[in-house]
Amino acid sequence: MNSDDNLVVIDADERIKSVLKGKIPKHIAVIMDGNGRWAKERNKTRIEGHKEGTVSARKIIENSLKLGVKYLTLYTFSSENWKRPVLEVNKLMEMLYENLISQRDMLIENKVRLKILGEKSRLPKKLRNEIDSIEELSSGFKNIQVNLALNYGSRGEIVEAIKNIISDGISEKKINEKLISKYLYTRDIPDPDLLIRTSGEYRISNFLLYQIAYSEFYFTDVFWPDFRMDSLLDGIIEFQKRKRRYGAI
Ligand code: IPE
Ligand code: IPE
Ligand code: MG
Repeated sequence: MNSDDNLVVIDADERIKSVLKGKIPKHIAVIMDGNGRWAKERNKTRIEGHKEGTVSARKIIENSLKLGVKYLTLYTFSSENWKRPVLEVNKLMEMLYENLISQRDMLIENKVRLKILGEKSRLPKKLRNEIDSIEELSSGFKNIQVNLALNYGSRGEIVEAIKNIISDGISEKKINEKLISKYLYTRDIPDPDLLIRTSGEYRISNFLLYQIAYSEFYFTDVFWPDFRMDSLLDGIIEFQKRKRRYGAI
């Protein structure tokens, strides 16, 4: 390591310390976008981009733990992503399965609770089984809750909630905002404080529409495979400058 590298390391530690003096968002939600474009810029395949993206996903879990974030929601596969070529979809499902297997010990060691948000029935059986097993095994863990939004679409989530409210025979008088929250995949999870989207896209792409009513948004041009602690700190520093008014003055 030369003296320049040293300087960079000290700098990062100092930034972490200073961020920890401010308010840390309790729940961060991330639209992890730009794997394909990251790969294209390097003449790599989209799959290689996704593979690099899984490294960033592991890192953001570790870094969120370090910073004391309590809920981290990662948009992993949308209900619209089935429109992609079947080879890409299959590879994504395969990589997810392999990652869950290889990260199992890390999740247990760090007492990470894992939850899936989304319609599990369309996922490959072996992936579903692995998910069920990790969800159950980690259900009592409290260091951080990591939610993977998988085959997730917010409009579909709301439609399902309405159907279930009707089939449960809930009377009109009992329907309020809190009750609707209870019928979403995010029941028992506080709304995101900070929503991050990478890759320079400024849209929500059917993610947590009900839950982000008062979230702070942070958009960065960084492609997801390049997203590391420095980018996360950039987002949190920006969050710490915001004044949340919730409609008041
Ligand atoms: C995000 O990267 C990963 C998923 C949506 C599964 P993309 O694959 O959307 O990357 P771009 O947007 O094509 O660069
Ligand atoms: C959103 O990214 C979904 C995930 C990150 C999993 P997309 O790349 O699918 O979104 P659009 O198509 O650009 O809106
Ligand atoms: Mg994309």
